[in-house]
Amino acid sequence: MIREIQEEILRLKQEKDVCILAHSYQASEITEIADFVGDSYALSVKAQDVPQKNVMMCGVRFMAETVKILSPEKTVYLANPIAGCPMAEQMDRELISAVKKQFPDYAVVAYINTTADLKTVCDVCVTSSSAVRIVKEMEADKILFIPDCNLGQYVADQVPDKQIKLLQGGCPIHARVQKRDVDKARALHPNAKLLVHPECQPEVVREADYVGSTSGIMNEAKQSDEKEFIIGTEISIAEHLQYACPEKKFYPLTKELICPNMKATTLVDVLNVLRGEGGEEIVLEEETRLAAKRCIDEMIRRGG
Ligand code: 13P
Ligand code: SF4
Repeated sequence: MIREIQEEILRLKQEKDVCILAHSYQASEITEIADFVGDSYALSVKAQDVPQKNVMMCGVRFMAETVKILSPEKTVYLANPIAGCPMAEQMDRELISAVKKQFPDYAVVAYINTTADLKTVCDVCVTSSSAVRIVKEMEADKILFIPDCNLGQYVADQVPDKQIKLLQGGCPIHARVQKRDVDKARALHPNAKLLVHPECQPEVVREADYVGSTSGIMNEAKQSDEKEFIIGTEISIAEHLQYACPEKKFYPLTKELICPNMKATTLVDVLNVLRGEGGEEIVLEEETRLAAKRCIDEMIRRGG
């Protein structure tokens, strides 16, 4: 049944000229039919280079919005309209505009997991793969980092010479991981390397052998000579890695690391979008798109 739906999707996406992008947290039945699978940075820029007129995002809303911001001439669909990232919804433009008035000499660095509307009042975007480097290279030495205070704390630890102000936001899924989960996993798998996403709490991140984005974690595990890994990010990454590297062993740091929003998209959703019966076309006001594009362009100018 899955195979038949996949074949129909492959046929229709060609007929309808649709490029399917999938975040690496998607289930393998979706990554298998995608034209491109990657982390949030790679996905955001990929659509600019593809020949198709239409793009379908199998991920969460801010990712589809980022594609639309950079590729306004393309018709962009979010495969399942309920797939939002709760972190991206935590802070809005009004709140950050008010904070900016309080701290006018701070540059605002926004994690890409933010709405298009919020990006309009930020100076530069970063992703988990570029946050440390971009903050380090910025001319400003006073930084308001939003919305993820765990990623922000990781950046602050790596860039101690800058003043980094954080607000209380973050990923409710990665925040579930506790130091005791690390102790438990290390006791069970004493030879395994611990690879962790910087959205986890500082007490977890500080225990890691490697900290990086979803693609960073996957690349590190694939190219490492080590044989066992504890994976501290959404559970699908351990599953994809186990499939890609059957000779190695991958253990999820905790089985609670499941993002229901990333898992909301199903193969049937993808099929329905291609049949013109589902999904949501992303529409942004041109003023919002252009203002949000400034801080994404600034990220790209600084090397992504
Ligand atoms: P990446 O930048 O690693 O793709 O992370 C996006 C995300 O939502 C992680 O939870
Ligand atoms: Fe958002 Fe966290 Fe899900 Fe990533 S894992 S999409 S940050 S809720």
